[in-house]
Amino acid sequence: MKGKRQLSFIWLIFLFGNLGLNAGELLFDKAEFAHRRQKLMAKIPDGVAIILGAQPTTGYREFVQNNDFFYYSGVEIPNAILLIDGRRKESLLFFTISETAARNEGISLNLIRNPQEVTGIERILPIEQFSNYLSRLANQGYVLYPSFKPEELPRECSQEKFNILYQNMMLNPWDGRLTRELQFVAHLKQRFPQNEIRDCSPFIWEQRQIKSPAEIELLRQVARIGVEAHLEMMKATKVGVYEYELAAIFEYVCRKKGADLAYYVIISSDENHPYLHYYKHDRLLQDGDFLVVDAGPDFKYYDVDISASYPANGKFTPRQREIYEACLAVQRACLEVYRPGITCDQVREEVKKLLIKRGYDLEKDLFKIRTMQGGCSHYVGMAVHDVGGSPRGPLQPGMVFACDIYAVFPGEKLGVRIEDTVVITEDGCENLTKGLPREVAEIEALMAQVRR
Ligand code: GLY
Ligand code: MN
Repeated sequence: MKGKRQLSFIWLIFLFGNLGLNAGELLFDKAEFAHRRQKLMAKIPDGVAIILGAQPTTGYREFVQNNDFFYYSGVEIPNAILLIDGRRKESLLFFTISETAARNEGISLNLIRNPQEVTGIERILPIEQFSNYLSRLANQGYVLYPSFKPEELPRECSQEKFNILYQNMMLNPWDGRLTRELQFVAHLKQRFPQNEIRDCSPFIWEQRQIKSPAEIELLRQVARIGVEAHLEMMKATKVGVYEYELAAIFEYVCRKKGADLAYYVIISSDENHPYLHYYKHDRLLQDGDFLVVDAGPDFKYYDVDISASYPANGKFTPRQREIYEACLAVQRACLEVYRPGITCDQVREEVKKLLIKRGYDLEKDLFKIRTMQGGCSHYVGMAVHDVGGSPRGPLQPGMVFACDIYAVFPGEKLGVRIEDTVVITEDGCENLTKGLPREVAEIEALMAQVRR
């Protein structure tokens, strides 16, 4: 019996290890990708998901796969197509690439030569066979499930991209183009008028909202890079420095760690505080300025979101401190309250009660101006504003989102933002981006230390 238990323990370690980051040629083990595809198959028992890979870039920028394609395959080959067949319970990867082109893109020859073995995808076919293969499935009455939403590439967020393309391209009378994805849907409708065509993105988005242990482990790595980059930026902050110098430091640290930016570095100070995405970096820091820095890295397809706030001269004024500490109290309370099963509305109410119990006067302007939505801002993952918007129902283990508390006082040219990326655990939450000095005394000490 003991031996048996030991055996199953070893098996569990093996299984867990296999689902981990130790993945060889793919970012995660192929079992992790297979598991993701199986989950999608269960949602589409009557059809096939058609996931278009990213196309080659048109300028001298490196090729990057889109998030959905990468999520289900881990494969970075341009112009590939992935079929996830919910009826036959198998997946097919279509691609054609020469070995020279592959090497040029940094794609391993082992992947090109042994794609089935490397990826664990059941069938591999040249892209030239895609149309015939799809016709065969269509003739068998398959429901076709392409994604109606735009692909996400680095620094893109699918829903926001759709909104922009809808306004500026589709509704523009001098343009009128459909998105690539809706154009593809139009082709499918024309070629297969008998078949039902449904949007796959709700299933994909629902799945991507819950992160696996391997994804969470990777997010911890991304978070460490983000924290280090913020620390270096904070240490370099002083009166007489341009905001673009600080942005460059953040980017430098990310790049030095092999990461990129998840989004442009946002720095607001002075009259720019009300503009939460101000990214021009055009101010020379003055004595008395207070900064909000919102920046996060993108590493191996995963992002974190972090905001920090501090004075340019390293010393908080009483008013800066008062607003900052109110924000911090709210953020701390949110982190204490997050747990599975609670909704963000309930978080807000519990946070209010906690603050009152701790002696805070919620009638003060400090608390009035802030959005008190329990800090639950947006999901974070492969995109900084990850698919699915913000948590609405009860929180669940594996949900990763930004806990974002901010207050803006335009009349006083002042704003504060404290934002961390958190994951819901079995019994609470983990602050993935912990490690930044958050208390006023800690921030002042760090800034004073580098000035000595
Ligand atoms: N990190 C950008 C935002 O969430 O506003
Ligand atoms: Mn955010």
